[in-house]
Amino acid sequence: MTFSGSAKGDSEGNTRIAPSLLSADWGGFAEGAAACAAAGADWLHLDVMDGHFVPNLTFGADLVRALRPRCRLPLDVHLMVERPEDFISRFAEAGADHLTVHVEATPHLQRTLAQVRALNCRAGVAVNPATSLDFLPYVLFDVDIVLVMTVNPGFGGQKFLPAAAAKVRELRSLRERAGANFLISVDGGVDDTTAPGLVRDGADVLVAGSFVFQHATGPKGGIEALQSAATAAAAAARAQA
Ligand code: DX5
Ligand code: ZN
Repeated sequence: MTFSGSAKGDSEGNTRIAPSLLSADWGGFAEGAAACAAAGADWLHLDVMDGHFVPNLTFGADLVRALRPRCRLPLDVHLMVERPEDFISRFAEAGADHLTVHVEATPHLQRTLAQVRALNCRAGVAVNPATSLDFLPYVLFDVDIVLVMTVNPGFGGQKFLPAAAAKVRELRSLRERAGANFLISVDGGVDDTTAPGLVRDGADVLVAGSFVFQHATGPKGGIEALQSAATAAAAAARAQA
């Protein structure tokens, strides 16, 4: 089992940029993914919505299967679905690298995370803005990615919620105290104005949809703007420490 100790393997220490395909041109997902890879993205984030857990529908494992041979980036699948345990093997088999489930959507979180790892995927848990981190001590060593939602999930282009972002700092200190190893990812309203604070507070991964795909100079401009915001914030934080 190679996926526990999740910070190892991909650009350790640097902030990873994970464009969300939700905001790409739906007529050309493969082209959108290729543009992100060419622009230096680290992961490709795929938002799966079931119309129950969130009030919107998107795509399923067949998109992962179609993109897998066309995209060299790790496929970071965010399952906004009720009872994700019923779907994870399909996504793993289709070629997902990371499977993130919502703590609010699964009754047996530890078991679900263990099932994800057993399928050789990194196991993530996502936390809605109004959900506390009280559950985390019980799965600290079962989780590879904690995804902090900084909007209520369901749609791209929503306004960033600073109160939810406060969890990033809390996560970093929990991780340090416990000697755990998960990555801290943030999703929702991430742009070049919100990224610096998130990185300063401890975000390892920035998920961004509309900022990347609606950037005036295209996804390359959006990805580069996030990379430089993240690099500057990390340098400032190091200088202060
Ligand atoms: C929202 C999704 C996000 C979404 C973010 O439910 O989980 O990944 O794509 O979009 P922006 O970056 O536009 O807020
Ligand atoms: Zn997402």
